[in-house]
Amino acid sequence: MNASFKRSPINRLTADLLCVFVHQDPALFTKEISALSRKLGIKISPAEAGDFKGKEGETVFAYLHKGTRIQRVCVVGLGEKKNLTQEKYRRAAAAAAKQARAVKANHVALFLPSLNGKPAEAVFAFTEGAMLALYRFDKYITRNNETRSTPEEILIATDSAALAKAGNDAVQQAQIVCEATSLARDLANTPGLELYPETLAEAALQSANRSGFTATILDERAIQDLGMGGVVGVSQGSRRPPRFIIMEYGKSTDKTVVLVGKGVTFDTGGISIKPAAGMAEMKMDMCGAAAVIGTFEAVARLRLPVHIVGLVPAVENMPGGNSIRPGDILRHYNGMTSEVDNTDAEGRLILADALAYAERYKPSAVIDLATLTGACVVALGHYATGMMGNSTGLMEKLTAAGEKSYERVWPLPLFDEYEKLIKSDVADVKNVGGRWAGAITAGWFLKKFIGDYPWVHLDIAGTAILEEAGPYTQRGGSGVGVRLLTEFLRKWK
Ligand code: BES
Ligand code: MN
Ligand code: ZN
Repeated sequence: MNASFKRSPINRLTADLLCVFVHQDPALFTKEISALSRKLGIKISPAEAGDFKGKEGETVFAYLHKGTRIQRVCVVGLGEKKNLTQEKYRRAAAAAAKQARAVKANHVALFLPSLNGKPAEAVFAFTEGAMLALYRFDKYITRNNETRSTPEEILIATDSAALAKAGNDAVQQAQIVCEATSLARDLANTPGLELYPETLAEAALQSANRSGFTATILDERAIQDLGMGGVVGVSQGSRRPPRFIIMEYGKSTDKTVVLVGKGVTFDTGGISIKPAAGMAEMKMDMCGAAAVIGTFEAVARLRLPVHIVGLVPAVENMPGGNSIRPGDILRHYNGMTSEVDNTDAEGRLILADALAYAERYKPSAVIDLATLTGACVVALGHYATGMMGNSTGLMEKLTAAGEKSYERVWPLPLFDEYEKLIKSDVADVKNVGGRWAGAITAGWFLKKFIGDYPWVHLDIAGTAILEEAGPYTQRGGSGVGVRLLTEFLRKWK
């Protein structure tokens, strides 16, 4: 799938499907519909009959005579013009793209309407909506090939001179961000049989070579030598050895941002084993890692003027004869010890090492992403990422990036009172905090291991793993974090 941009009158376009967008506002609607019938020579009968009003998400097909450059037109409703936002444009483009797939169109043109907001941002949103909606994880499906048609080419078109320059860059940049999101989705959706610490590290290396950043992979021996007892401990029940992935992009003179991603390639719970129902989704317990790798791919391909370091502790959490047990005590990279009361609270044990390790980069910001707690899903559901941290400034920046990308974040408090819930009698800290405020006690555990830097923790358990499809997301891995962090880094400095 490729996206491109072109300035052209509507009636000069060639496509299997031309998607056009109309507003719900009656006067504007009438004008837009009559312009379409004049320029393309089509009658949009449902509009004349009052069956189509340009409401958000409404679509209707119209067909042209054979021999024209365009076979069919899909008219897509945008809703009322005054309400239009980037997110509305994403959704409208997504609706158009899904209709393109439904009619098996190979070359699709989206002809832009008169836009609200900054032109580049609106064009960016249109491209995102179409490309993200067409993502599929189908590499393991060998049958029913013909039902899986994905358009080869998405052409974003306009006849506006003002849009032409901004439009081209916006489409190219959006395609990069969407491909990076697809990479994160692919990593999430790949089963644990195939994706384990070594292959996750291999995927990071491949992305690095393709996109222009570096990746260094530490093996079990190196991880042990560094004293990362959390990573070693969690991984030791698995036949698959751990890896510690270090990525770097940009000149180190800049204000460094460290991105940390939880890379549990499968989470059985370990000896504190999870119930069978729903365990399959724990193949996605590496979505934090996927978000970090995807962000590196996007930032490097976009050549953003930033310096970023990525840290991914990668392990498989399995029960076995060599597993850690409840009651065990681990020693982390910074020398602190943790009591393992529940081996299913493994994410924080590996993140503790990575967050302590981050200090060596003297970062201006550290952001960790992790499918850390079921409690966060209970609190916020699938529409907001839980956010905690020690820097209101950094949290504000992420909130703004979340609004813009629509990968929204929402704060949870790290009040002092919660700290005592993870007090241990035998170690510096305990890895579980009891029944209440599970997302916050997990955040507090991480807080114990951070260095002297501004830090934000993003619990993406609900937003990374989806039970249902959205307007431009599918069931399974959402790739959340890539668009959020890329937007954040565009504004960084
Ligand atoms: N990976 C899970 C959290 C999770 C649950 C992510 C559901 C996505 C969907 C994490 O490792 C875990 O098992 N957390 C435990 C912590 C508990 C033992 C304190 C949980 O949330 O139940
Ligand atoms: Mn777990
Ligand atoms: Zn986990």
